[in-house]
Amino acid sequence: MSINKNLFSNKRSFKNLFSIRRNSKNLFSTKKNKKKVGLLVVVVLLFLCALCIGVVVIKNTRPVVMIKVQDNSIYQYEELSGIEVKASTAKKNQKIVLNKKENYLVKDLLKDLNSGEGYKLKYDIDNRTAGTYTVELELSKELKKKVSYLWWNKIKIQLENGSFEVIESKVDPTKLMIALTFDDGPGKYTDKLLDILEENDARATFFMVGENVSKYSEAVERMKEIGCEIGNHTTNHTKLTELEVSEVISQIEGTNNLLLDIIEEKSTVVRPPYGEVNSVVRENVEYPLIMWSVDTLDWKTKDAKKVKEYTLKNVADGDIVLMHDIHQSTVKAAETIIPKLIEQGYQLVTVSEMARARGIEMKNGEKYFSFK
Ligand code: NI
Repeated sequence: MSINKNLFSNKRSFKNLFSIRRNSKNLFSTKKNKKKVGLLVVVVLLFLCALCIGVVVIKNTRPVVMIKVQDNSIYQYEELSGIEVKASTAKKNQKIVLNKKENYLVKDLLKDLNSGEGYKLKYDIDNRTAGTYTVELELSKELKKKVSYLWWNKIKIQLENGSFEVIESKVDPTKLMIALTFDDGPGKYTDKLLDILEENDARATFFMVGENVSKYSEAVERMKEIGCEIGNHTTNHTKLTELEVSEVISQIEGTNNLLLDIIEEKSTVVRPPYGEVNSVVRENVEYPLIMWSVDTLDWKTKDAKKVKEYTLKNVADGDIVLMHDIHQSTVKAAETIIPKLIEQGYQLVTVSEMARARGIEMKNGEKYFSFK
């Protein structure tokens, strides 16, 4: 009997259950309860917001590892090289542990990045077309995963793209070329020589003596304007091999300072007077030492016809030709030599242009005779 009663009462409680359900339905319908629910939703939303803000704050305050493409350039036609990427971070971040088990720290990550691991470079550079190109960085899938899951609260990686410039070059490396060089000037005939070069769209390298640089500053300006190379032939044409270290340096820097005053540039190459070089010169002149492969002996003959014939007979692709623009006969010879060589298919280029076109990176203190 009592069981039955219980059963009954259970039935009732079952009914009660229903009524509770109904009541819960009512929860939404009564004004008071509506408020309660609204409050609950607001609390939950606030909590979620706080969580999001927390995540954002953590994300933004994480130590930054910067990966940056360094800006670089090559000359047109030069082989594509030198896209450099540097990873760095503040010193205090370097000891952050990224993987305890493997004892992998931020500084290890930097080392890996700086040896080229963990990213890809995206670019579309055409070395035959001058212009500025963008080099984009992209993290490798593996590193991306690590940063977003395993290390998400430890570090942040920031990427910075770079630009790569292909500088216009007038030299076609596949064609013949010669570098005409003129020493001891500028002089009173240099301007005429510059006329000839300009008319023929040709360039040359001038190894100038400091004391003449200041006398003919306008000629120096013009050399730069028409793309000739500014060479250094010491301040007063002294044999460098007979000098002390400090004197060798001041012989070069003396001319450089004069050039800086005129064209705001130093020389790019040096020709030691008389071609005399010893270990002091090699170790202390911080420029490539440019010798020659064809000596026209123009200073000796001072005969335009002889200079012209000798030069045209003896030059070949890659030669560096020695002449002196302080002699009228040499400039007269150049009047024929320059258009004639161009007619024969030679490009008349500067020493540095020729080295570049031949893929040679000239080193300071090293002698160069030709680029064949
Ligand atoms: Ni000389």
